[in-house]
Amino acid sequence: MLGNSFGRIFRVTTCGESYGKGKGSGLAVIVDGVPPGLKLTREIVQQELDKRRPGVGKLNSPRKETDQCEIFAGLGQDGLTTGAPVGIIIYNVDTQPIHIEQYRSYKDIFRPGHATYPFFLKYGEAQDWCGAGRASGRETVARVAGGAVAKFILAREGIEILAYTVECLGIKARPLSFEEAKRNYRKNEINCPDLDAAKKMEKAVLKVKEEGDTAGGIIQVVAHNVPPALGEPVFDKLSATIAHALCSIGAVKGIEFGAGFQVGRMKGSENNDQPYLDEQGRVRFRTNNAGGLLGGMSTGEDIVVRLAIKPTPTISIQQRSINMRTMKEETLSPITRRDPTLLGRIYVVAEAMMAIALLDALYLARAYDSLARLDKKWLKLKGL
Ligand SMILES: Cc1cc2nc3c(=O)[nH]c(=O)nc-3n(C[C@H](O)[C@H](O)[C@H](O)COP(=O)(O)O)c2cc1C
Repeated sequence: MLGNSFGRIFRVTTCGESYGKGKGSGLAVIVDGVPPGLKLTREIVQQELDKRRPGVGKLNSPRKETDQCEIFAGLGQDGLTTGAPVGIIIYNVDTQPIHIEQYRSYKDIFRPGHATYPFFLKYGEAQDWCGAGRASGRETVARVAGGAVAKFILAREGIEILAYTVECLGIKARPLSFEEAKRNYRKNEINCPDLDAAKKMEKAVLKVKEEGDTAGGIIQVVAHNVPPALGEPVFDKLSATIAHALCSIGAVKGIEFGAGFQVGRMKGSENNDQPYLDEQGRVRFRTNNAGGLLGGMSTGEDIVVRLAIKPTPTISIQQRSINMRTMKEETLSPITRRDPTLLGRIYVVAEAMMAIALLDALYLARAYDSLARLDKKWLKLKGL
């Protein structure tokens, strides 16, 4: 399997499967590019992992994983990072034979909406049929651990990242400022900071769950206090790096920046964000249709991205499919363990990937700046 690393200077590499084989199976991340002397504790990482942990609440998979992490590399005797790669491991604990046998019973049947078909075409009979292997949502636990390290480093630079639900089953949250969204962050299971809309969304999802079905939705990811001029103008636009990071998460089917698809319905005079100078002489913008990105580089305004999240593919409703061994059409019986919606868990994965993408871009920008020797006037505008 190729492509298990992301990032150029700040780089994460993950491994591990949903089930794996036997006791001791789990998921791990190796993080390159961690500065020395940081008081990185397991609690800092654990706090992020707890946000995506399954088995808690009604909108969440009943799989009971504790998701306890250990930092097994990169820390010195004083508990500070040494500058060496940081390694973090999370063991699987709820891999019961009853569920393994359930997966075995339909291992040859293409699970509609899931990664089964291309897995057969790439890995043949050896494909990991148990819980979808690397295509499982469980794969994202290692990203969240790596993202926790990135968030920790970004926080030192004053950069914050928040993701939350803005739409589900036709119910929309009202537009909220960053501060308001932050105040109501994770106040409900669906993680929608418009508390009235959240109640309606949760009720609607529970109804869909009773029917044995699942629900999709839209999340918004906001990066706050990002310095201007991150990203490169051609192939390595920050927008492209962010899209790569976020679209690599399973179940993400759409992405838009700022006003997004709405720009296609606007006039230039409506879309253009007009700049002004604030009291400190910094360039700011009166609106943010650009979602904090111009020419693919950051402007210093909030980077605002929305992601369309598809309904969880596994459902408790009978479906028509194909047995890939016999190459005959078959009926797939209802399947039990799954998330009725991914909204209450995927947001923290999106925050992690945004953090990794931004930190990597920050490293590159600082490296370039240190050799470019620009006039101080431009450095001042970048806050340097
Ligand atoms: C946090 C998270 C949890 C997920 N949980 C489930 C699940 O319980 N059942 C399921 O069928 N898919 C789940 N998925 C979605 C699948 O991983 C994804 O739909 C699948 O890999 C197919 O990829 P695609 O949707 O990008 O085409 C989850 C994804 C994420 C990110």
